[in-house]
Amino acid sequence: MDKEDDLVVNEQLSLFTKPTKKYKSESILERLIELLQSDLNFHNQISNYNSHNFHSFPAKFPPQLPKLFIEELTKPNEVVFYPMVGSGTTIVEAYFANRKGIGFDIDPLALKIAKVKTTPLNKKELRKYGSKIYYEAKDDYFKNREELYELLKIHFDSKTKKFIDYWFLPETQLELISLWKQITMIKEEEYRNFFEVIFSSLIITKSGGVSLALDLGHTRPHKIKALLDKDGNVVYGDENFELSKKHFVTKVIKSSFEEFRKRLNQNINNILGHSVGTKPEIRFCDSQNLCLDNETVDLIVTSPPYASNAIDYMRAHKFSLVWFGYKIDELTKKRKEYIGSESTSDYYFEDLPDFTSKKITDVSTIDFNRGKVLKRYFSEMKKSLKEMYRVLKPGKVAIVVIGNSTMKGIDTETHKCLKEIGSSIGFIAPYIGIRQLDRNKRMLPASKKKDLNSQIQKRMHEEYVIGFYKP
Ligand SMILES: C[S@@+](CC[C@H](N)C(=O)[O-])C[C@H]1O[C@@H](n2cnc3c(N)ncnc32)[C@H](O)[C@@H]1O
Repeated sequence: MDKEDDLVVNEQLSLFTKPTKKYKSESILERLIELLQSDLNFHNQISNYNSHNFHSFPAKFPPQLPKLFIEELTKPNEVVFYPMVGSGTTIVEAYFANRKGIGFDIDPLALKIAKVKTTPLNKKELRKYGSKIYYEAKDDYFKNREELYELLKIHFDSKTKKFIDYWFLPETQLELISLWKQITMIKEEEYRNFFEVIFSSLIITKSGGVSLALDLGHTRPHKIKALLDKDGNVVYGDENFELSKKHFVTKVIKSSFEEFRKRLNQNINNILGHSVGTKPEIRFCDSQNLCLDNETVDLIVTSPPYASNAIDYMRAHKFSLVWFGYKIDELTKKRKEYIGSESTSDYYFEDLPDFTSKKITDVSTIDFNRGKVLKRYFSEMKKSLKEMYRVLKPGKVAIVVIGNSTMKGIDTETHKCLKEIGSSIGFIAPYIGIRQLDRNKRMLPASKKKDLNSQIQKRMHEEYVIGFYKP
């Protein structure tokens, strides 16, 4: 282990695992209420420490949020579970607090990111691999272009290649395939995963990274109208493009190699040099059918997808998953499996309680199909909450962080519906905490609404922290 690594870890531990303010109540239920009434905004706090910033992820919550509940509601070595693990925020915090973290998701990219963020790796080895990838990929790009063109032909099936051609410049494709070729040569899986996550982070960023997309890590991809060089000249797209609009629909060309080098340095600085706690378990599992025994979990902290497919994970993630070898058709099929997806054919709906059913009826009256989509969402969330109830030990807590959506102009009031559903299956939901979102930090669906002062708009800038207690 490097001395330097030692220092970094100690520094990280002392800075970020300091116990937060102590809450008074002895009973878990009372302490839960106290925590939910505390300041849950965490504005102006640093959230990119440790590995939290390895890869952008929509609706990633601030690490201080799971940290608070982990420290106040569990003891060292207890089990902290994160169904719908996303980029692993809760698991990273559980790891640093020496709790046993378990995280599940059905998204291949989310699982990879969450694993890499909690895997200690030797920094010297990473630097060695990193510079080999960087220099050899660049060398190939300049000297072996024909071979790289051939590789591009065999790496994708025809439909996936059409997708690649639409979203990536030919030169960027060559850069990316040369980096990818070097990454696949790494034999040790944990090290290869680290570089795959860096590779993906070159593409999936708020601004669409080295692809021709905008808003990739944010909401739904739109293709740029023009690509500019660093002097502002149009190098791709509409040459007569009205420059007054350029802020919204243009971007500046970036070299994948230099972006790789930049991310490499950042991520190596923040990776764990050695183990600090119990190794988390992160794997593929549907939150509606949890691969865990009854009453084995001490705390759940999770943020499920929003209703109405407001954040379409696969729509963004496919931009890097196609490079990983997934075919565009299989990703499109997979997209239907996510909670909140819009496909409702052959779907088995759950019985839902009154307030939730009324919400679905309100939407159905305006648009029958959208009503069905909302019913699917609440049915999936009911199944997931039932499973959370099953795996939690009695006397323990599940924290569910959720925002609202609008469907056909109707506020879904998801927090009220989930509270009602949770109560109907046996949870006590004593209080809902409210957080004001820091929109500069958290990537959320963009709003087209102009009236930012309307009630609905105000609620769109809030997020709800529901505390479920299992008696
Ligand atoms: C809001 S994100 C979680 C983000 C996370 N809080 C973070 O900080 O990175 C929701 C996650 O739910 C996952 N998901 C959707 N449907 C799922 C299902 N049926 N089972 C498990 N995970 C699912 C998505 O893949 C996504 O990663």
